[in-house]
Amino acid sequence: MATYGWIGLGNMGAPMTANLTAAGHTVRGFDLDAAAMAEAEAGGVTPVGSVAEAVQGADVVFTMLPKGDHVRAVFGGDEGIWAHADTGTLLIDSSTVDVETSQFCHDESARRGFRFVDAPVSGGISGAAAATLAFMVGGESEAVEAAAAFIEPMSGKTIAAGGATTGISAKICNNMMLFIDLMAAAEGSQLADRLGLDPKVFWEIASVSSGRSWAQQTWYPVPGIIDSAAANNNYDATFRADLALKDVTLALDAGELTGVTLEAAQLAQGRFRRLVDDGLADRDCSLISKYVSPDGTAPGYEGVGTVTPMRDAG
Ligand SMILES: NC(=O)c1ccc[n+]([C@@H]2O[C@H](COP(=O)([O-])OP(=O)(O)OC[C@H]3O[C@@H](n4cnc5c(N)ncnc54)[C@H](O)[C@@H]3O)[C@@H](O)[C@H]2O)c1
Repeated sequence: MATYGWIGLGNMGAPMTANLTAAGHTVRGFDLDAAAMAEAEAGGVTPVGSVAEAVQGADVVFTMLPKGDHVRAVFGGDEGIWAHADTGTLLIDSSTVDVETSQFCHDESARRGFRFVDAPVSGGISGAAAATLAFMVGGESEAVEAAAAFIEPMSGKTIAAGGATTGISAKICNNMMLFIDLMAAAEGSQLADRLGLDPKVFWEIASVSSGRSWAQQTWYPVPGIIDSAAANNNYDATFRADLALKDVTLALDAGELTGVTLEAAQLAQGRFRRLVDDGLADRDCSLISKYVSPDGTAPGYEGVGTVTPMRDAG
């Protein structure tokens, strides 16, 4: 049995660590938020008071934090992971961050004698709870291999993506594709409705036709069609609008870095930014369907219609 240090016990970190403790491992967990700490403790995590305490005696340390800035803060500084962990401890960042932050973590870890891998996940909160997350892992092959054993109790599939930052690059590209597909599902569902189609019948047609996608299968923004859709629950978040904005912006930043033109991603960014501007940052990202309808309503949404005009994409 292994000892894990774990920083970030939020929506993803809590269920992920619960699967580790269920498998018999020890998890020393730290989060700034008391409620997150309490929930993780209920899931079997040993709560500790700081990053320094969490990494003590750990075979591996995971970070599952909101953004790149949080990851840099938790790794660096006098109270951070690099200052307090043993260099024999494997360091794994599973947060969705920008490529530069991930490269920084690789470079700085190597400079200080640590092994580090980027290992972001796909599968959402339900995948975290069911231990079926897909992990995409980037780094030196020996470190990637070592990471796979620690990841196993939380994962349905672990894929070695290649060298440093390839895991996070795969995650950014994948999520960009997902959010472009979500726009298609939002527009297709609304147009089908206005053309008089029964929503269930149209969803079944798309499911066996070329309009099928993960977004259409899992997040279809019409209530009463699929159980996993936020449209059934007044768009309570399964994936928050502000996190969708973060992810698609990471893709656009990467596009700028590489000279790739990402016009569809720019459109998606505009839609999610509009949700944030309308005070709906914590609602589900599939609520972008309200900007498709002529009256700013969305099927299954009890809130008010459109408030803020669309900003320029970009
Ligand atoms: N929610 C999803 O469906 C999902 C799916 C795949 C990937 N992700 C990614 O996983 C990461 C975590 O997502 P989440 O949904 O768990 O977010 P979250 O906001 O629920 O959890 C993040 C936790 O980090 C804690 N935190 C922030 N700064 C800290 C610090 N300095 N020290 C200790 N704790 C700190 C916060 O208090 C919070 O509890 C994000 O990068 C997200 O993009 C999320």
